[in-house]
Amino acid sequence: MSATKDKWLKYRFLKKYEQLAPYVPGTKLMSKSALWKLISKYRRVILKPVRGSRGRGIIQVSSIGGHTYALHFENVKINIQGKENTYKYIQKKIGSTRYMIQRRIARPTIGGCPFDMRVIIQRKENSRKWKVTAKIAKVAGRGYVVSNNERSKGRLLPVKTAIRKSTIHHLSSTRLQSKMKRVSLRAARRLRGLFPRHRIYGLDVGFDLKGHPWIIEANLYPSMSHFLKLKDRTMYRRIMAYKKR
Ligand SMILES: Nc1ncnc2c1ncn2[C@@H]1O[C@H](COP(=O)(O)OP(=O)(O)O)[C@@H](O)[C@H]1O
Ligand SMILES: [Mg+2]
Repeated sequence: MSATKDKWLKYRFLKKYEQLAPYVPGTKLMSKSALWKLISKYRRVILKPVRGSRGRGIIQVSSIGGHTYALHFENVKINIQGKENTYKYIQKKIGSTRYMIQRRIARPTIGGCPFDMRVIIQRKENSRKWKVTAKIAKVAGRGYVVSNNERSKGRLLPVKTAIRKSTIHHLSSTRLQSKMKRVSLRAARRLRGLFPRHRIYGLDVGFDLKGHPWIIEANLYPSMSHFLKLKDRTMYRRIMAYKKR
């Protein structure tokens, strides 16, 4: 079983590093007790397959009071009464797939749709210096939790534009972007301990409503599709040039 796709392994490795811990949302492996514990702590959680990708199998679970729980997957929202029924429903939906439970980050929205970022970080061969070579804001399609572009039929925006159009437009986009960069570079340096030869990461980074950056996940084989979709190929060309050396 390859480690590169194991979200639980990467999560633990990042979270263990003191300088990153405040930027990594609390996560536990799926179990009945862990689910109710995290829901009582955070009210909303995200369930995700340990080896998932492209937003597949992601379920948001929220406690909405009166012993009612709201489930949100794809563009579907349902309410279920009581813990027993809720857990049974989830179990049936996830089957024998290994899942984890993550604190849900309340992300800023644009016209009601949440967004987070894809940040590409690279280093050249024989170099220890990491660089952010590309970044883009992924706005979830209407009604979706996940911002994965294909799955949610979302849109892509320059990060600065996304911030300006969003519910955190009152925060400085320069400051937000430099916080995002600092945390992303820290994550890449840390991951070297797990993947010593690796030279590229695609991080999913989300701001919360206070502008605090959170590392949602670290991809070792980030898709180029986001940057190929842009008319301006500057970022795509920079990524490719970095890959060569
Ligand atoms: N903890 C979270 N809080 C808020 N949104 C999340 C959280 N985890 C995932 N998401 C949303 O779901 C998307 C997919 O989750 P992710 O962990 O990146 O798995 P995948 O491998 O399927 O892309 C993220 O890009 C983000 O839009
Ligand atoms: Mg992702």
